[in-house]
Amino acid sequence: MGVVASAPAKVILFGEHFVVYGEPAIVLAIDKRAYVKVETRNDKRIYARSANLNIAGYFEEGVFHPEKGGENARYKLEPVKTVVDKVFELAGRNAGLNIEIRSTVPVAAGLGSSAAVAAATALAVAKTLDIELAKEEVFRITYEAERVVHGTPSGVDPAIATFGGALLFQMDTGVKPLEAEMDIPLVIGDTQIQRSTRDLVAKVRRLREKFPAVIEPIMRSGRKIVLHAIEAIKQQDLETLGELVDINHGLLCAVGVSHEALERLISEARKAGALGAKLTGAGGGGCMIALTEHDKLDAVAEAIQRAGGIPYVARKTDVGARIEP
Ligand code: PMV
Repeated sequence: MGVVASAPAKVILFGEHFVVYGEPAIVLAIDKRAYVKVETRNDKRIYARSANLNIAGYFEEGVFHPEKGGENARYKLEPVKTVVDKVFELAGRNAGLNIEIRSTVPVAAGLGSSAAVAAATALAVAKTLDIELAKEEVFRITYEAERVVHGTPSGVDPAIATFGGALLFQMDTGVKPLEAEMDIPLVIGDTQIQRSTRDLVAKVRRLREKFPAVIEPIMRSGRKIVLHAIEAIKQQDLETLGELVDINHGLLCAVGVSHEALERLISEARKAGALGAKLTGAGGGGCMIALTEHDKLDAVAEAIQRAGGIPYVARKTDVGARIEP
């Protein structure tokens, strides 16, 4: 038995990194999900296991006891514990829990796997304790968990994992659903190089502190790209969107978050006919996306594979965090 909840992965179409400094970002939920199953236990332990990551361990009286994966297990499961504690607070009671994480989202790749796991955990634990969480509460709890992982997250990952769909996200104004009737066909290319969002965000911060007069205008250009992109989405103008994707990638290179493996995949995707290609998420490895007309999706996916990446054709999903039927 037990309760199963899930939440989607995401790709940031425009605005990663700059979003940390208050600029807008456009983000899409995609058809890869994290699933979390929760059951009560007879003791007070919070036992958590991730088959994909090959880690397991339990928290008892605030202390973590690894069973598989040592320190890495603690690092990966700490945010899950944060989520559990927040839900306990809301429920006004505790319970021993078994938490099983199954995810089809590549980890540390820029696809928001940690936020998807946190959002699904919040819903599944709440349901197990017989409380209903409003979407805003799922978002808030997921954001708290992301703070444990990333330090100073913008909140874009928690927002999309919670609400799904296509969102315009900005730190001070929050989440606005984008009327994206338009199909936005994408190939994701995973370099399989894991990296730390925290480190990359810190790298951009250092650069911005050292060269404010150089970096701040780059970030403002990022905002203008998003404004043009909103128009292009309204007009269903895929070609313009592709051009904007390429310009956005140029800005991300300028702030030092690309990687030679990303550059290889991006360049091959463009040669194979993508309308535009950029890194997505924190960069430094992880994933790129190629905006591609339908009839070229296969050719672009093959080019990404030949260049050493793992391609996925991604579809937008409107299904945010939910309890599985
Ligand atoms: O790579 P990810 O999925 O962790 O995305 C991070 C997005 C950033 O803009 C780089 C950081 C943030 O908190 O918004």
